[in-house]
Amino acid sequence: MSGAITQGELLSFIAAMGMMYGPMKRLIKTNNIIQKAVGAAERVFALLDTEVDIVDAGDAVELPRCKGDVTFEHVDFGYDNELVLKDFNVDVHAGQMIALVGASGAGKSTLIGLLARFYDPQHGVIRIDGQDISQVTQKSLKQQIALVDQETFLFHDTLYSNIRYSNPQASDTQVEDAARMAFADEFIKQMPQGYNTVIGDRGVRLSGGQRQRICIARAILRDAPILLLDEATSALDTESEAVVQKALANLMRERTTFVIAHRLSTIMHADEILVLDDGKLVERGTHKQLLSAAGVYQRLHDMQFRD
Ligand SMILES: Nc1ncnc2c1ncn2[C@@H]1O[C@H](COP(=O)(O)OP(=O)(O)O)[C@@H](O)[C@H]1O
Ligand SMILES: [Mg+2]
Repeated sequence: MSGAITQGELLSFIAAMGMMYGPMKRLIKTNNIIQKAVGAAERVFALLDTEVDIVDAGDAVELPRCKGDVTFEHVDFGYDNELVLKDFNVDVHAGQMIALVGASGAGKSTLIGLLARFYDPQHGVIRIDGQDISQVTQKSLKQQIALVDQETFLFHDTLYSNIRYSNPQASDTQVEDAARMAFADEFIKQMPQGYNTVIGDRGVRLSGGQRQRICIARAILRDAPILLLDEATSALDTESEAVVQKALANLMRERTTFVIAHRLSTIMHADEILVLDDGKLVERGTHKQLLSAAGVYQRLHDMQFRD
C-alpha cells in the first residue's frame, strides 16, 4: 500500500513462499532422521569401543584339528565375586557324549561357556587334547567347536547364506547335504524359492523347530570335533522335538558332545552323565549306575525329566 514494492513483486513473493513451504518441511524432517541416526551411531560406537575381555596370549599357538579330549583341572569361576564353579575337575574322552544335568542355576551353561572360552576361569586350566585353551589362538579354538543354543540366531538373508554362515567356503551341495542330515531339507524345498528364500529378521517366518534345525544344519556343516548343545530342544513341542532329536543324533556322531538335556531319552543314551549341584560335580556315571546310587541324580530324575 505504501508502494515500496509493486503488486507483481508481492504476488511473486507470496508464490515463492508457498513453493518454499514443502522443501522446508522436508528439511525439518531430515533433521529428525539425522538426530535419530546420531543417537543410534552413538550406541554402535559404544559397542565397537567395548574392551575385549578375552585376548589371545602373546605366544598363543594354533590348535590343530583336535581329537576332542577335554579336561577341566581345578577350575574356579565366578561372574563376579561369588564363585559359580568351585574346584571343578573332569576329564572326557574324545567322541563321548556327555550329558550335563542339575538344577537350574547349577552352572551347566557356565561350564559350556568356559569351554568355548567366552570367559576365562579365575583359577585352574581347561584343556583340549592336553592343550591349555588359554594358550591357543581364539580363532583356532573356535574352529574346533560348534554350539547349538536355545537362542537360534538367524539373519535376514537366504537359507543358503544362513546355513553357510558356519563355513563360508562350503558349496551349495554341501549346504544341501547338511540340511538333509538336519531334517531341514524337506521344509526348505517347500518354501517359495527353496534355499534362496529370504527368511525374515531372526527367522520370524519359520517355526521354532525349523529354526532349530537350520542351526543344527549349520553345526553339521561346521564339522567341528567338539559339539556343545545347550537346552537345544527345551522350547519345542513334542512333535518338532522328535525331528530335532533325530537331527541331533546325526550331528553328534563321532564328536565329543556336551549336552544339557531335559529329555530322559537323550540323557539315557549318554556315555556319561555329569551331575552338577551348586557349581560342583557331585555324581558321574551312566543312567543305570546313578539311579542305583539313589542320590541327587535320582531325585532330579523323579522330579524333572520328562519323556
Ligand atoms: N552372565 C552372568 N552374569 C552373572 N551371573 C550369571 C551369569 N550367567 C549365569 N550367572 C549365574 O551363574 C549361576 C549358574 O548359571 P548357569 O550356568 O546359567 O546355570 P544352569 O545353566 O545350570 O541353569 C547362576 O547362579 C546364575 O545366576
Ligand atoms: Mg543354562
